[in-house]
Amino acid sequence: MEGLFGKVFKELGYDVNPKIVKSNKGADFQCDDAFKLAKEYHKAPNMIASEVVEKIKSEPNFDNYFKEVSVAGPGFINITVSDKYINEQLRQLMNKEILGSTKEDKMIVVDYGGPNVAKPLHVGHLRAAVIGQAINNILKYKGNKTIGDVHLGDIGTQMGQVIYGILTDFPDTNPEDVVIDLDYLNVTYPKMSALCKEDEEVRAKCLQITKDLQDGDPKYKVLWQKIWDLSVSDIKRIYDYLDVHFDLWYGESHAYKQFDEMMPYLEEQGVIIEDDGAKIIDVKEEGDKVELPPCMIQKRDGAYLYATSDLGTIWQRVKDFKPDEIIYVVDGRQSMYFVQVFRAANKSNIYNGVLEHHGFGTVNGTDNKPFKTRSGGALKLEDLIKQVKEEFINLREENKNMDAEDVDKIVNAIIKFADLQNNLERNYIFDIKKFSGVSGKTGPYILYTYLRINKIISDSEGIISDEIYSETDRALRLKMLEVSSVIDQASKERRPHYIADYLYELSVAANNFYQNNRVAELEGIKKNDIMLVLNFNNYILETLLGLLGISVPKVM
Ligand code: ARG
Repeated sequence: MEGLFGKVFKELGYDVNPKIVKSNKGADFQCDDAFKLAKEYHKAPNMIASEVVEKIKSEPNFDNYFKEVSVAGPGFINITVSDKYINEQLRQLMNKEILGSTKEDKMIVVDYGGPNVAKPLHVGHLRAAVIGQAINNILKYKGNKTIGDVHLGDIGTQMGQVIYGILTDFPDTNPEDVVIDLDYLNVTYPKMSALCKEDEEVRAKCLQITKDLQDGDPKYKVLWQKIWDLSVSDIKRIYDYLDVHFDLWYGESHAYKQFDEMMPYLEEQGVIIEDDGAKIIDVKEEGDKVELPPCMIQKRDGAYLYATSDLGTIWQRVKDFKPDEIIYVVDGRQSMYFVQVFRAANKSNIYNGVLEHHGFGTVNGTDNKPFKTRSGGALKLEDLIKQVKEEFINLREENKNMDAEDVDKIVNAIIKFADLQNNLERNYIFDIKKFSGVSGKTGPYILYTYLRINKIISDSEGIISDEIYSETDRALRLKMLEVSSVIDQASKERRPHYIADYLYELSVAANNFYQNNRVAELEGIKKNDIMLVLNFNNYILETLLGLLGISVPKVM
């Protein structure tokens, strides 16, 4: 259709690649290019629009494409397409291997998750996991090769603190022989972290242990490994529940292994500045609106920092994968930090590909402040999952007897759809009641729509005919035609909410159809057509839910 409009504009002497966009009222689509051209060609927009409309109406294949094309208002071109056109487009779409329109073929590392070993996952980690996994799924679906890396915080001060705790609790045991379990870890980290706040001496000791550990002290290394194994297997358990998976379980400790190679390289590149014994990289640039502090690489005492580990990680990724892009799905409050790291990586020529930080907003309580428990601490992710599960089970009597696997799928749908329906940059308020409802823009609503349609679908064969049978049928088919551009846009911008929005709109269209057509009474070609349409509707729903990390339960 854009091609035909392009041809007509050109034949009339206008140099433009016209854009045809969805129209919200009075037509299916519209073209607004007359406004832009008006200035260039010194003509009234509606004159240009009229010329185009008149000419397009005289095209020999007009009826194949259109039911009606007309000028609206001061120069919009309103387009109502023919049923034949809708069905032709739909047949093409149904025939395609994937729903996106263009194939992508990049190597992309996706850094998401970012939990800290020895500390429990809290609600803040939910978004990194859920959004990161969705972006990873979308990029993969489009044909890219992706490497998901969890990037554990596994060599920071919390490790020194827990090691100190173990040394005081097991003073006479060989590090190799120390036996600890998860309960021990869950008690020891908060205990030590509180103690360090009160006791300066302990704090200093813990920092020293951390430093020695980073320098490779073997006796600490043994304890570190025990903590790592315990904690990471617990983190994996929760990620598994959320269907969040990583190709690499690397962490900051892996980056430390790169420093012997990377630090001399940085010196060679001449980007390191000595500042009172510390090493920094200046990352200010002309035109910056705020003055960017330098990127700290090494402290006076020789200790490395968060930024050094991110640079070391980039160094390693370049070596291992030669990625076209590295993208980070990390809390938006770290955005300045990532500007510093990205500039440091560029300036030092560690990496000249694309680096992107997609910073997400906070999950807030009803007071619109970052979610806290009643006692003021961060809510554990596991407790949040439990709360959602309880809410759902108590919603209706039947839910109490539901298949456990189905319950978990629905809990996932509630949590993920609630999160992913927002532009990731925005904060949102966690309202379990609202998110669990089967009406409104919720995960359960989409699942319910899918299952409702699934019940009435029967076998169908061949391809759809050129007929359309009702207004709601037509609206549903038109909505299905949007799917490719939605996936393309979500992939291009790394914004899963486009898919969530579309899932909701498609579900509304499918429910409208369901309520206004007596599917059970259909026969013959009409029945076959409708079944093909409904089958495809559910194929789209299931595919897109899958991209958001949501699976469909058997019943609900
Ligand atoms: N562990 C970090 C934190 O809790 C997040 C890591 C994010 N990823 C990264 N490459 N820096 O804040």
